[in-house]
Amino acid sequence: MSGHAEFRVDAPVSTAPVGIFDSGLGGLSVLRAVRAMLPRERLIYVADSLHAPYGERDDDFIVDRTMAIGEWLVGQGAKALVVACNTATAQSIALVRERLPIPLVGVEPGVKPAAALSKSRVVGVLATAVTLRSARFQSLLDRYAGDCRFICQAGHGLVQAVERCDTSSPALMALLESYITPMLDANADTLVLGCTHYPFLDRAIREIAGERLQIVDTSVAIARQLDRLLDTHALRNGTALPDTLPRFCSTADGEPQRQLAASLLQFDAAVEHVDIPSRRTRLAEPDIV
Ligand code: DGL
Repeated sequence: MSGHAEFRVDAPVSTAPVGIFDSGLGGLSVLRAVRAMLPRERLIYVADSLHAPYGERDDDFIVDRTMAIGEWLVGQGAKALVVACNTATAQSIALVRERLPIPLVGVEPGVKPAAALSKSRVVGVLATAVTLRSARFQSLLDRYAGDCRFICQAGHGLVQAVERCDTSSPALMALLESYITPMLDANADTLVLGCTHYPFLDRAIREIAGERLQIVDTSVAIARQLDRLLDTHALRNGTALPDTLPRFCSTADGEPQRQLAASLLQFDAAVEHVDIPSRRTRLAEPDIV
């Protein structure tokens, strides 16, 4: 189904951009996969870094921000939306899908591929506390865990570290080790990265676990799903030149985003500051629960 060779020149074409959104910088791991698979597509990336981490917010806050950013991206002309955040997908995808006038793709922890891969039948999952306690995640386990034992660990502190561009400090390594060692001790051979920030910690995880854990990251599957979605809705862009730079936006200071994009995506792109107010962020009361 994927493959640019299959694109027909007489097919309807849309040069509008695809919107990609995350609570912060994690969605850049998804953007990397989307650029690799769909190099002709124009992309707008929004990092809601001012309000990260979502994993420590209440459900209404996450729905409110996801809707506001989705609507903002529609206002910028986005033809499709990738919710590149497991936490936002878990809490809001059904509602956002119903309310936004464009097709969208969400991201969920790779429970199904992990259950298929694991030989020891013990799998670790690292995700935010919100994702782990969501009904969607529970339903993934019910459907796909089969005879596998899943050890689910909330990655408190990891999103904040990546937002600071910290992927290797001693404090971060100690934190990661405290999450991963119990999984290894329980004979896990597979680790699901259930948060799009965590692929940036790939090297750190390797340092701790060596080759004992195979890592499941769903970013390539998301790009493939977007590829299918654009086909289904006849939205594929056949005209833009390859290597068009994404438009990067942040609700906070864009410098960490610029740095991470430079090291991960190997290009230096300016980051626009954007204001995306929403019902909850207009309130004076504190939002952290
Ligand atoms: N990248 C987000 C995810 O995939 C992080 C959520 C957060 O901000 O806590 O879940």
